[in-house]
Amino acid sequence: MCGIVAYIGHREAYPVILKGLKRLEYRGYDSAGVALLDETGLNVYKKKGKVAEMEDSLIGKALPAKIGIGHTRWATHGEPSDRNAHPHLSASGKLAMIHNGIIENYAQLKKELVSKGYHFNSDTDTEVLLNFIEDIWLNNHCPLEEAVRIALKRVVGAYVIVLLNSEDPDTLIAARKGSPLVIGIGKNEHFLASDASPIIEYTKEVVYVNDYELAILRPDELILKNLGNEKITPYIQKLDLELSAIEKGGYDHFMLKEIFEQPQTIYDCLRGRLDADKGTIVMRGVENHLEQLMNANRIIMVACGTSWHAGLVAEYVFEELCRIPVEVEYASEFRYRNPVIHKGDIIMAISQSGETADTLVAIEKAKEQGAFIFGVLNVVGSSIARASHSGAYTHAGPEIGVASTKAFTAQLTVLMMVALKIAAAKGTISQEKYIHLLNELHEVPEKVEIALELNDRIKEIAAKYADTHDVLYLGRGYNFPVALEGALKLKEISYIHAEGYPAAEMKHGPIALVDETLPVIFVATKDSYHEKIVSNIQEIKARKGKVIAIVTEGDEMISSLADDTIELPAADEIIAPIISVIPLQLLAYYIGVYKGLDVDKPRNLAKSVTVE
Ligand code: G6P
Repeated sequence: MCGIVAYIGHREAYPVILKGLKRLEYRGYDSAGVALLDETGLNVYKKKGKVAEMEDSLIGKALPAKIGIGHTRWATHGEPSDRNAHPHLSASGKLAMIHNGIIENYAQLKKELVSKGYHFNSDTDTEVLLNFIEDIWLNNHCPLEEAVRIALKRVVGAYVIVLLNSEDPDTLIAARKGSPLVIGIGKNEHFLASDASPIIEYTKEVVYVNDYELAILRPDELILKNLGNEKITPYIQKLDLELSAIEKGGYDHFMLKEIFEQPQTIYDCLRGRLDADKGTIVMRGVENHLEQLMNANRIIMVACGTSWHAGLVAEYVFEELCRIPVEVEYASEFRYRNPVIHKGDIIMAISQSGETADTLVAIEKAKEQGAFIFGVLNVVGSSIARASHSGAYTHAGPEIGVASTKAFTAQLTVLMMVALKIAAAKGTISQEKYIHLLNELHEVPEKVEIALELNDRIKEIAAKYADTHDVLYLGRGYNFPVALEGALKLKEISYIHAEGYPAAEMKHGPIALVDETLPVIFVATKDSYHEKIVSNIQEIKARKGKVIAIVTEGDEMISSLADDTIELPAADEIIAPIISVIPLQLLAYYIGVYKGLDVDKPRNLAKSVTVE
């Protein structure tokens, strides 16, 4: 993970890097640091904790450098501390480097360096790689770029690195494999970052660096090469992103802003695709491969975290509507197993960031075995997008809060449209049901808006349960994955232990936890399992558990049983998860806020997990 920013040009580098690091903090916030090169030499400032802590320690310091590199860390090798913070300095003190990724063979490289007399000041794999580069550089008397190339040929793992050389104040050298790197091209200046957010306010012209490419940047020059030292023509793209999209816009937290954006983001996701009046869904990524998708023997959803929950909902939807068997896999398990993949299998890779390392490697492996990869992704041009054969973007806009909210509802919306298109083409859905579901999807933004009006009610419920230590989330059918997602949200944001379970399955274990102190949240909107879930609620009440029920408006039966009820507008059970997750997002958010936690940056987590 980790976020990297670098600058070379005519501006003061520090303010550009600092602002960029704040935008990239979603990628990790265990420590932050900068290396700046000016007439006084190469200076490194770094500190454990969030970017703001590093900023505070530098207040009042003159930092005139026009070239610099910066890093915000999510710890892998070595605990979060000042000394493990990046940038790292090489043994000679001539080079500074930042790194995002993991060097898997660092132990071997370290051993070699130690035998040559090198000492290390940190526990990081980064310092090993840096000294490995320096060792080649000093011994071969070659240009630094060549030393980097030679070193990277020996490296196993993933990296984006950026090097600052005190002997060459007009050049930055960067390289990528497996972690994201974007270059912003300005007038006599260049920007480097893990994503475009630190760059957009300066330029909209960007180059996405590919794996095994090396960039040599000077204020007025960008040279791209492969590891074979051949020049590559940079492919300059125009960013389709506005600054306002990555700012808080008056909300206390990005998470709350993103929850409240959902009527709009779901609308954006449907816009130009679904036309309920005409009864059509336009999705080029599906149409161009319709035969293949219709004739799939099997669909395998591959994802992590919240995106995996979207895959679980999709399992119910695709099996019901398309009659295609679906498996839902954690990418991290799938990639290391020896999964049976046949030609004709479709892999649906679901990812907000499009950079999750496990998901990326999983699809690459499946591709090698002949699977067709369909990406359901939020970030345009991301690594998974580029590795997919086809796909559909979720168009939810940048999601910055570490806990995923609007990306999840957009993923569900896209997956439901894809399922409906395939079902219509296969004839596994009646025309009547198809039109009904199109209308239901069309109405989702409005119903989500109504769900958001429950904000104050949910705040009250949050206050009531903020001191609890455990929560059980139960649901059946389409709402079972919603229960899992609700539990994940609470864990992430409030550090309260929460478990999601299929409501009927609780009899086989979790019911033993139930007593008068345990809040049990039922996702119990009206569906074909309704009577069954009413019985499950009775079972909890009989054991004195506290029941908070998410129900369809007018459900007097459950309201009379539950301690607290949240009423949502009626929706078809297939579509309902997009709406029933909203109160669970708000509940987790407000409990986190009541507990005084940093909901946008929960401890130990990061938004984009680019390490396996
Ligand atoms: C991290 C994030 C989660 C996200 C998961 C998968 O754990 O904190 O919010 O669901 O990664 O990320 P992706 O970008 O692949 O959807």
